[in-house]
Amino acid sequence: MRQKFNKHATDAFFERHHVLIKPKPLNLSGDIILEIGSGKGDFITQYAFDHPNTTCIAVEMNRHVCYYIALKKEALDLNNLIIIMDDAALVEQYIPKNSIAAIYLHFSDPWPKAKHHKRRLTYPTKLDMYGRLLKKEGQLIFKTDHQKLYIESSFYMQSKFKNIVFDDDSQEEAYITEYERKKRPYGPIYKIQAGAYDDTL
Ligand SMILES: C[S@@+](CC[C@H](N)C(=O)[O-])C[C@H]1O[C@@H](n2cnc3c(N)ncnc32)[C@H](O)[C@@H]1O
Repeated sequence: MRQKFNKHATDAFFERHHVLIKPKPLNLSGDIILEIGSGKGDFITQYAFDHPNTTCIAVEMNRHVCYYIALKKEALDLNNLIIIMDDAALVEQYIPKNSIAAIYLHFSDPWPKAKHHKRRLTYPTKLDMYGRLLKKEGQLIFKTDHQKLYIESSFYMQSKFKNIVFDDDSQEEAYITEYERKKRPYGPIYKIQAGAYDDTL
């Protein structure tokens, strides 16, 4: 969905709110989770609020949407939330290898045309990148309402991860996103939780 132009989403706004807009290697330690394609940030900000000892990282490349994550971070006074406004493809320029306990992909764009599949956040080249970022037993969690994306992502994930659990009618959990709130009344929400990345598969 195209987001409305937001005249307040300026570089100066993001600078004031400490949103990272240029690659910079982060010095991270402790428990870290990452959400890619965070939208307006409902999931990651609530999660960060309830887990003050976990470092939470939101990656969202659309400035008009990312703006709302920064506002929520400020309203909730979240010192444990890092916001990266950049393309997921560049995330390794910010985040060290083998550092992340869980990566969340919520309602990622389905990119239905075959010529655009490479842009999917569940595409195998992205899964290899997640494998490098995750700790050894780190988890990848994916949710969508899009059946075709779910099925095709199942195949992608089986080619890269072990210990995969598929759920084709997942129940609502403690933290939900804007899309989940919108889509849940209209049909099943599919979920895939993948355990260890395995580069020998
Ligand atoms: C369909 S929306 C879902 C937003 C949110 N996760 C939710 O569930 O409400 C997908 C979001 O992913 C972002 N996105 C898509 N591709 C991305 C990429 N390569 N890097 C960073 N963000 C991306 C889009 O800008 C958009 O905000």
